Amino acid sequence: MSSIDEIKSRIDIVELVSEAGVKLRKSGRSYTGFCPFHDNKRTPAFVVWPELGTWKCYGACNEGGDIFKFVMKKEGLDFKEALRKLAERAGVTLQELKREAPEVKEAYERLRALLEDALIYYRNQLFNNKEVLTYLREKRGLTDATIETFGLGYAPRGYDNLLPYFAPKGYSQQDLIDVGLLSVRDSNESQSPTANRQLRTYDKFRHRIMIPIRDEQGRMAGFGGRIVDPDDVPKFMNSPDTAIFNKGRILYGLDRARKPIRAADQAVIVEGYLDVIALHQAGYENVVSPMGTALTEDQLRLLKRFTRRIVLALDPDTAGQKAILRGLEAARSAMDREGELSFDPRGLLRNEARLQADLRVAVLPDNLDPDEVVARDRDEWKRIVENAKPIVTHVMETLAAGKDLSDAKVKNEIAAQVIPLIEDLPTPIERDTYRQALARMLRVDESALSAPAAPVPTFRRKPRAPAQSRETSAPQTVAAVNPIFKMEAYCLGVLLRNPALLYRLDRKLQEFGLTPLAAEDFEYTAHQLTFNIIRLAVEQDEKDHQNYVETHLPETLSEISKEALAQVEKASPTDDKLLEELLNRVVDLRRAGAMANINQLRFLQEEEQLQGGANIKTYQRQAIQFTKLLGALDRAKKNLSLKR
Ligand code: GTP
Ligand code: MN
Repeated sequence: MSSIDEIKSRIDIVELVSEAGVKLRKSGRSYTGFCPFHDNKRTPAFVVWPELGTWKCYGACNEGGDIFKFVMKKEGLDFKEALRKLAERAGVTLQELKREAPEVKEAYERLRALLEDALIYYRNQLFNNKEVLTYLREKRGLTDATIETFGLGYAPRGYDNLLPYFAPKGYSQQDLIDVGLLSVRDSNESQSPTANRQLRTYDKFRHRIMIPIRDEQGRMAGFGGRIVDPDDVPKFMNSPDTAIFNKGRILYGLDRARKPIRAADQAVIVEGYLDVIALHQAGYENVVSPMGTALTEDQLRLLKRFTRRIVLALDPDTAGQKAILRGLEAARSAMDREGELSFDPRGLLRNEARLQADLRVAVLPDNLDPDEVVARDRDEWKRIVENAKPIVTHVMETLAAGKDLSDAKVKNEIAAQVIPLIEDLPTPIERDTYRQALARMLRVDESALSAPAAPVPTFRRKPRAPAQSRETSAPQTVAAVNPIFKMEAYCLGVLLRNPALLYRLDRKLQEFGLTPLAAEDFEYTAHQLTFNIIRLAVEQDEKDHQNYVETHLPETLSEISKEALAQVEKASPTDDKLLEELLNRVVDLRRAGAMANINQLRFLQEEEQLQGGANIKTYQRQAIQFTKLLGALDRAKKNLSLKR
């Protein structure tokens, strides 16, 4: 998913528009209000569709678009500025903007190279240390191949090993600080007036088993260090977050697990590094773990690139009653303890809906870690994962375990906990299914559960600080899987591959009595802008088309164009076939638009009727136009299918 999609999917357009001062009223699947761009305050002709993440004014402006267009128009920004602004609101780092700066990229490469060298250093230390090596081989049952594959190492005792080793290799003290291998001693002396003195530093990792941590592309990012001496604290120590290591964005083991995850169409998340390693060794390679911190939405998004089926393997403590109640009651606190995968059903469900993922919970037996489970019985792991339950089911069963379900008070308590979760689910089918399951479990009539047994938290709240919006915003925006988006991206992909097809497309459209392809045919601002560049490319004749596009496409759109090209990767190689496909998609795109508009206008007309009907004529005129267009599109479609 590109950053643009990610931003779109994280920002609730209803909230964005409301905060800009537009009072919106829900009507069916859309919201209506007065248009902020022209000043007719009599008719609410401004419509917002949360599911599509789009808006449109059916009044004087007759314009519409996505969140970017809205902010651009409302605040007079260009696309790049709007992108920056909304990225910040959504908490999305704009990778492609960062990546462009070559000096920065080079600096990162240097840090990664340093970490690769450190890995070699620690590995050599390990093979010189009988005690630790024996521990890994015998106590942990790791083979030498596994130790090698995962690059395990050992950081020796002592505070000053690294600098003397790395300085002759051309690394500076600052480099070692930057990757988090050296810590700076905070003493008062350093405030002495003597300028430019060497900082006083010491090796961060001492007498620890070193576990290299790589990002999903296999690039070194940091280390985790586990104690050798059971009395040392803390048990695990990670590199601090650095320019190339962000604990909330990396999943341990994903570089090795990504292929198996795709193949199995399932990912399993466990809590510990050593569990990941042991499971991979046992042949279960679709396993990853967070960095001892709570699972983040970013991490789930990252996994979602490889599968939508995700299983959380939790120990009974984490998955149990207390954890559930804590997760349900307290809004997730910022104090997620390190070394604990917090289980917050509400947050997870919201992410599940927003990401359209399938999240399940598997509970480990008898206080065993996954590595102990596979050591005891290799097949048991498989059974545990297969038994994973949907989050709501898991919560219901856990709350009910050991309770007297014939007690009305108990029933009430459980219902009060679970119903709000059920009400949060995105589709009516899911809600019905779980309501039935809850009714069965509590042995009550389902109708007793339809009315909320407890005050159901509402998700339309007053405007909040932007940083929090992603925790609580309604999970309606699913822009990334929006079929319109895909159709648009496909059309652009074809044109990016062969811009000259635009001429032939326009001629065909004209033959069917349709207008040439225009930026307005696209709903995504980023797509509109990309299209404009393609249009300019074919209208000039100084450069070859593709070259023109390449040189004129701003960096903010490079990701979008890559994604569009990916859509047509498997498309037919011949231009004729491509053109036919393109034509079909354009017609489909316009039909979808015309149909949505007709429906919406019908709705607006009905509302207008109730309010005196002053504007009914405008709506009727528009509806007639869209109906005519629909007719022409249907004829075109028929023609196209006859040719096939
Ligand atoms: P073993 O006990 O050797 O089997 O390691 P493990 O990986 O199974 O660790 P454990 O189950 O104790 O903890 C799970 C994960 O939580 C670890 O892999 C760490 O990422 C994290 N963790 C545990 N203890 C600490 C700690 O003291 N500090 C930090 N930062 N993380 C911890
Ligand atoms: Mn363990």
